[in-house]
Amino acid sequence: TDAELDARIVAAKAALGNRCVILGHHYQREEVYRYADLTGDSLKLARLASQRPEADYILFCGVHFMAEVADILSAPHQTAILPDMAAGCSMADMADLPAVEDCWRQLNTLLDAEATLTPITYVNSAADLKGFCGEHGGTVCTSSNAAHVLKWAFGEREKVLFFPDQHLGRNTGAAMGIGLEEMVLWRPTEPMGGLTPAQIKAAKIILWDGFCSVHQLFQPAHIEQWRQRLPGVQVICHPECSFEVCQKADALGSTELIQSRVREAPAGSQFVIGTELNLVNRLKHEMPEKEIHFLSPTLCMCSTMFRIDPQHLLWSLENLIAGEVVNPIVVPAQQAAMAKVALERMLAIV
Ligand code: 13P
Ligand code: SF4
Repeated sequence: TDAELDARIVAAKAALGNRCVILGHHYQREEVYRYADLTGDSLKLARLASQRPEADYILFCGVHFMAEVADILSAPHQTAILPDMAAGCSMADMADLPAVEDCWRQLNTLLDAEATLTPITYVNSAADLKGFCGEHGGTVCTSSNAAHVLKWAFGEREKVLFFPDQHLGRNTGAAMGIGLEEMVLWRPTEPMGGLTPAQIKAAKIILWDGFCSVHQLFQPAHIEQWRQRLPGVQVICHPECSFEVCQKADALGSTELIQSRVREAPAGSQFVIGTELNLVNRLKHEMPEKEIHFLSPTLCMCSTMFRIDPQHLLWSLENLIAGEVVNPIVVPAQQAAMAKVALERMLAIV
């Protein structure tokens, strides 16, 4: 039963004590989120992963790339664990190292890539892509620091190659005053990304053709409908939403920013939120004195975040008690070293 499951999770956590820290992303379902010792958005969780040296195990309730970052940034004696190996991120899978290397080579035939282009990978990417950025003078960004990171990048070189999320790249560039015509889309399946040499030479940001299948479900018409229904409502969206949606929002931000904006607002405030359903539902339950609505009329849920369930959490914990580490996330040493260069560059920027 659920009660039994809960009791066993509580007991297992108590038995492990400080040896195991549970990190929980804001999109985790409530039945898992409630057991997290520390919660946050990707940036906060990446920092926290390196701040609990007393824990031998970092049990990551989130998706694969987050557990990889925890492995890379934690101390050598610590092990990151992902309770279900099938918890990936479909956006992260839209860019892989051979395709990015191929893109880099093609761009290099037109411009001196190493001197003119800074590669930036969204943290939603595999460790080897972070390594690529580390090796080529680039870095990593998250939804909460993308503007700072882009500003840094333009201080280094004149152009940016941004992958995998075109929307975060475009929304952040637009907020910095970069024109839409200066941001071009690289389609990895087409020769030269489907772009002309003139388009590439004129571009400030070359955006990879990736997106989040959850956030792309939000539509500008949803915002218009809410504004008609609730004039004065505050609309907050995650920057993984499309440009057209983000242009209509009152504020954009990471999951942590969305949570703190809603928490800080006075009772009676009205919000419409464009991000994953589990976070919005949790905020609704936590603050019944505020009116909180989900932007889309249909469910937008991250099915891979949802794979982490209490059963998998318990299984991981009880195996640790039995001395068995199941689903450790171990980034190969060489890859981890270069990815760490990129991540530490990011952490030094913000
Ligand atoms: P945050 O860094 O804002 O938590 O975003 C992570 C994510 O995967 C959003 O889809
Ligand atoms: Fe990836 Fe989208 Fe899920 Fe975030 S919500 S983990 S970007 S698939």
